[in-house]
Amino acid sequence: MKTAAIILAAGNGTRMKSARAKVLHEVAGQPMLCHVVDLVLRLSVERTCVIIGHQADAVKSAISDRPVDCVVQAEQRGTAHAVLQAEPSLRDFTGVVLIISGDTPLLTEATMRRLCETHQTHAASLTILTARVEQPFGYGRIVRDAGGTIVRVVEERDATPAERTISEINTGVYAADARFLFAAVAAITPDNSQKEFYLTDIVAVAGKQGATVADAPADPEEILGINSRADLARAEQIARARINAHWMAEGVTMHDPATTRIDAAVTLAPDVTLYPNVTLSGRTRIDSGVTLYPCRIHESTIGCDVVVKDHCIIEETVVEPDVVIGPFARLRPGTVIRRGAHVGNFVEIKKSTLGEGSKVNHLTYLGDTTIGQRVNIGAGVITCNYDGVDKHPTIIDDEVFVGSDVQLVAPVHVGARSTIAAGTTVTKEVPPDSLVFSRTAQTNKVGWKRKKPAPPGDTKQGK
Ligand code: UD1
Ligand code: CA
Repeated sequence: MKTAAIILAAGNGTRMKSARAKVLHEVAGQPMLCHVVDLVLRLSVERTCVIIGHQADAVKSAISDRPVDCVVQAEQRGTAHAVLQAEPSLRDFTGVVLIISGDTPLLTEATMRRLCETHQTHAASLTILTARVEQPFGYGRIVRDAGGTIVRVVEERDATPAERTISEINTGVYAADARFLFAAVAAITPDNSQKEFYLTDIVAVAGKQGATVADAPADPEEILGINSRADLARAEQIARARINAHWMAEGVTMHDPATTRIDAAVTLAPDVTLYPNVTLSGRTRIDSGVTLYPCRIHESTIGCDVVVKDHCIIEETVVEPDVVIGPFARLRPGTVIRRGAHVGNFVEIKKSTLGEGSKVNHLTYLGDTTIGQRVNIGAGVITCNYDGVDKHPTIIDDEVFVGSDVQLVAPVHVGARSTIAAGTTVTKEVPPDSLVFSRTAQTNKVGWKRKKPAPPGDTKQGK
């Protein structure tokens, strides 16, 4: 069966009360439209046409890396009018057209396949994905005749009180014969309270033509259409619960799934342990045996058996196996922590490499720095990488010992096995095997500390 898809994403999303187009609001770390586009692409459709309009450029760029055609609906005159915009691109297409709203990010592949099967087995002109929901408010209701045949869909605002009690709703997802679809859509008129061209009216058109309308029921959780911030929060909750259930089934331990937030693009290996309040976003990869205490990790790779202790923020960083990080460490973009290294508390590292087995355990800033193997960085070490205009590199070779409270004024290079004494300000190249210190000699003024003079009028002093 040849299949094409139309995704409706031109609407304003007024009910979101947002400066951002509704379909760009994120669910599980991805614009909701991307969830819908990816779903359609998994169904291996021949062509996908995304109808854009409101904030067209932003919407288009959000899906620019996906093989879809964008068609602009300059004026948003309703869902039927939106579908009509796809007609020129699908003119030569004969087969089944799937129609999905860009605001239903929780739909699954299984449901879409079931919709297609129902459509085929009934040799229908139109098949509607329906659901029975406890709170049908806001959805179009499925109106059936006494024999149970679907005769039309009525929108909330056009429904009679009796129709509003119907709990069977239109999910806004359809499979339709291409020929039937475009002929039916062209016949729709905007005689409703919103004066819009409603796609739902194709059901009544089908009835008049004697065309077969079938329906496939869906899980009410899956078809949630996001119209408001409350819907968005609900979808987020459902999406996260699904993702967490998936990773637990794959062998990940979660001490508190309710506070564990894993984005759709994250991957985890078996035997990862997540304590409460872990947030993993972007295309983060967590390898086996990793233990994460409350932390936030974005676009990073965490190697086998790494431990990230409480309250760390890790972004665009590669952490090799057997590393220990934190608590309270911040790893910023461009950082690489090599095998077996340690990063301790109150350490900030940016665009730097920490070599195998090296340690930077307390109160340190490393920026634009390359550190070799088995280097020890003492407490309070700062790389002065910025001169107010440009950033400069610091290079520290293997087995260097950097004492506490050292400043390394970049650009600077410290040769292998050197020792830098505590409190030193390094401004010049250090050859290998050197001892470096820059201090003024200590002066002790013995007996300098005297008793404070008594404040005026204090009779107790001096007794
Ligand atoms: C629609 C259905 C309703 C169904 C519900 C399911 C109609 C008339 N109503 O209502 O029966 O229960 O979805 O979630 O179809 N869009 C455009 N161009 C337009 C108008 C809308 O591209 O001119 C897009 C929107 O961006 C959105 C989708 O179509 O992604 C649905 O529009 P929306 O306004 O959310 O429709 P609902 O009122 O939810
Ligand atoms: Ca909607």
